[in-house]
Amino acid sequence: MRRIAHISDLHFGRHSTPIAEALIQSVNEHQPHLIALSGDFTQRARNSEFAEARLFLDRLPQPKLLVPGNHDIPLYNIFNRFLRPFTKYDHHFSTLGQPANFFRDDEIAILGINTARRLKQKNGRVSIEQMREIERALGDVPNSIFKVLVTHHPLAAPFGTPAVKLAGRAMPALEIIRKAGIHLLLSGHHHRAGSGSSVEVGAGGSVLVLHAGTAISTRTRGMEGNTYNLIDIADREVSVGLMDYGGDRFKEKSRTGFLFNDHGWRLIRTSGAP
Ligand SMILES: [Fe+2]
Ligand SMILES: [Fe+2]
Repeated sequence: MRRIAHISDLHFGRHSTPIAEALIQSVNEHQPHLIALSGDFTQRARNSEFAEARLFLDRLPQPKLLVPGNHDIPLYNIFNRFLRPFTKYDHHFSTLGQPANFFRDDEIAILGINTARRLKQKNGRVSIEQMREIERALGDVPNSIFKVLVTHHPLAAPFGTPAVKLAGRAMPALEIIRKAGIHLLLSGHHHRAGSGSSVEVGAGGSVLVLHAGTAISTRTRGMEGNTYNLIDIADREVSVGLMDYGGDRFKEKSRTGFLFNDHGWRLIRTSGAP
């Protein structure tokens, strides 16, 4: 069994300190094997925000795999935005994540790719080179290993949830994802949590799609609170706990189970409020 804590959209600079403390306590209690952080660490990509985010991340267990979000690129400093969009991100975080944004052990393989772009694409994009990278990193990993891809911007929407804008080139990327036998997609960006029954991609393959809400930011959407996902992976069964901040600590609000077989993912159980 492997446990992944999927945390997203911290937005340091527009965050709640008590909720950040509660998140540290909750994640440390649940002892994940890996923490996947799917971007928007800061609100405006300021050095002070990155420094605060780094202090916070150092209090969470290792290993971590992280990808930047659109808020981690400077917005107002045009010189930095166009010529050095990830300089601050790299400066503060380069010693934190996995080399080449890739983690593998004898049960899971997980790759992170950067979909944040310096130009207009608020909803991100996958490059042709990144599609090759997905093929290279995960295509040759045997299907007996559970394969996960992490992006900030979603590449698919969970079935039955409100439509959200997807990253540019999501469709061809999903075809590559299907061919590489990737089981699970993790993303953030929209501040809405959702674990989907399978989304059909390409010629009948399927992948489990999991969006994270915002873990500690005050920029919540609609009725959504502050959440993160606690994902247990055992063989071909995945159980997703939606961890919700209830005023003093994070509690499991719901748990959803999925089973993977030759026909793709299937919902097998839910408990708690959706
Ligand atoms: Fe965000
Ligand atoms: Fe974002």
